[in-house]
Amino acid sequence: MRRKLGLAAACTALALGLVACAGSGAGGGGGAGSSAAPAQELLVGVSMPTQTSERWIADGDSVREQLQAAGYQVDLQYAGDDIPTQSQQVDQMITQGADLLIIAAIDGTALSSQLQAAAGANIPVISYDRLIRDSQNVDFYVTFDNFQVGVAQANALLTGLGIKNADGSQGSATGPFNIELFAGSLDDNNAFFFFNGAMSVLQPLIDNGTLVVKSKQTGIEQAAILRWQQETAQRRMEDLLTSSYNDGTRVAGVLSPYDGLSRGILTALQNAGYGTPQNPIPVVTGQDAEIASVKLIADRVQSSTIFKDTRLLAEQAVVAAQAFLGGGQPNANDTTTYDNGVKVVPSYLLPVETVFADNINSVLVDSGYWTADEVASGQNK
Ligand code: GAL
Repeated sequence: MRRKLGLAAACTALALGLVACAGSGAGGGGGAGSSAAPAQELLVGVSMPTQTSERWIADGDSVREQLQAAGYQVDLQYAGDDIPTQSQQVDQMITQGADLLIIAAIDGTALSSQLQAAAGANIPVISYDRLIRDSQNVDFYVTFDNFQVGVAQANALLTGLGIKNADGSQGSATGPFNIELFAGSLDDNNAFFFFNGAMSVLQPLIDNGTLVVKSKQTGIEQAAILRWQQETAQRRMEDLLTSSYNDGTRVAGVLSPYDGLSRGILTALQNAGYGTPQNPIPVVTGQDAEIASVKLIADRVQSSTIFKDTRLLAEQAVVAAQAFLGGGQPNANDTTTYDNGVKVVPSYLLPVETVFADNINSVLVDSGYWTADEVASGQNK
């Protein structure tokens, strides 16, 4: 038998001090009767989308370090946001004898044949942060509460505008405010959760006239930015300013679902003359607490971001991996939300936190995610 799953790994202390066999998080029951194989003999393939965004570098590093700390061999690959490259890398992991796959897909629908091969070889597949769609062969999903990310982004926009206070209570501002909406890449399932979560908060205020989307581009297809590209977001913001704000009106806020997009949007706004006392920079949201954006928040340029602790996500992926490799099943905390078009994938969702300038230290520095030096320089050291 090629499979050599063992319990040995299941009780290994992880880098963050968590003991998987204690049953916390996604760690499920060990596999009764599974043939024991030492972790050292097991290979985990980790497929990440791109290194152009620092969050995925942090994710890859965390997953690799924590798997290695648990004793496994790791094959970590980045696909440069190129779908054929990712397919080829996953194919190769399978032929090289991976015992389990952890995949953050570029295009959530593009890996069906690889996953079919994985299922044929009895290799469990964990979908990492982004749901792999249209395949029966996704065994588990570790992610954050993506709808809540969107809700938090919309609330952060309202807080920045003064419509709400940070504690959720009614603020003093009443509007109307001009806003524009951005969404992520339409091949990423998360983009829909973020946008729908945000619109669940914003739509009633658009309907009652408190918020005005002057461009009238309120659909996700219009707001979407393919592959989450910063330059594409900058161009779209430039186009919006030209088409809808060349009559002396100003945009007061921009819903942005990811820090990379936010930086493109802010560049477009600054190039158009925003960012002076007479013409203040609009409220721009974000996601991922990327270090360049955290500095922009400290400098009061970007208004907010949503912090998703990639160390904890990696930890849950490793806990779930250990459950599978021990012959058991990981524990899900959501078994209803993530329908991938073929099945509802059992999921483990982590909570998120909103970061403004005044809680950078308590949320990001005190937790050791970024050092005070990194925040001051805007660079990952
Ligand atoms: C999403 C992810 C976000 C952000 C974005 C761009 O799938 O959930 O946190 O990283 O991709 O990379």
